[in-house]
Amino acid sequence: VVVVVVAVVLAVTLRKGKYTFEDRILARCEKFKGSDCRLIWAKFQKAYVGRDPCNVPMEAYDDFIAATQFKPECNRMMFWSKTKDVVHDFTEKRDCYVTLEDTLLGSVADGLTWCGRVGSSETLTTGCPRWTDCENNPVRSFWSRASAAFAEKACGNVTVMLNGSIETPFSPNSTFRSIEVKKFDATVMRSLNVVLVTQTNSVSNCTNASLKDLQKELAAGIRYSCKEVSEAQIRECSSNPEKPCGACW
Ligand code: APR
Repeated sequence: VVVVVVAVVLAVTLRKGKYTFEDRILARCEKFKGSDCRLIWAKFQKAYVGRDPCNVPMEAYDDFIAATQFKPECNRMMFWSKTKDVVHDFTEKRDCYVTLEDTLLGSVADGLTWCGRVGSSETLTTGCPRWTDCENNPVRSFWSRASAAFAEKACGNVTVMLNGSIETPFSPNSTFRSIEVKKFDATVMRSLNVVLVTQTNSVSNCTNASLKDLQKELAAGIRYSCKEVSEAQIRECSSNPEKPCGACW
């Protein structure tokens, strides 16, 4: 009896103060006023619960995407590739641009790992396939589907931060190249403006071969520009709220 009581007390104590995956998704969702977070959670988990974690295609999230529909903020949309830290540091501190991860759609899952299991109604957060273990894993399919939805809505003048410290800033396997650029719609999007984030000994500049490919892969009618901007200058703008957004680069 003593052993059982101790075990129960221990289990309850360990559980207390510990957030489940569902709690975390709901808490992130509640930050967006007026969202039906219960419904959004139901649609989210429906995509992968009870499924083989290598057999969740991006279409599995279609209902979730439909439930989180957002109004695009034309001229303020920001894409990125291999620049996650500097971009999000900037968008968190300054109200200049909006990335997918700043919207309800992307913020609920940012930085998290999850999957289901055949014959179970649970969400697991450990032992799930990693990004490249299999293509149709719940996390990768989520980001593919969410990125497609975000890019489809891109409107007006759009910005992307690419990494000038690598040989191929417009990287073939990236979500930005393989999904987002293909979804850009010339009827609503006016321009794509590359901010190539450089460091003191950067290997790439705006004449980079992969950026020539980017111009070719862009739908006809979408204007293109590229500007090299040092990471220090972007960080400086992040930390100086008095500087107008338009004066950052
Ligand atoms: N292994 C693990 N995680 C990965 C991998 C990988 N091989 N590839 C991508 N990711 C995840 C990571 O969480 C990483 O921070 O995707 C994120 C972005 O990867 P990048 O290669 O830096 O960029 P990209 O693939 O172009 O995706 C960024 O997609 O999220 C949207 O709108 C957003 O424009 C942005 C773009």
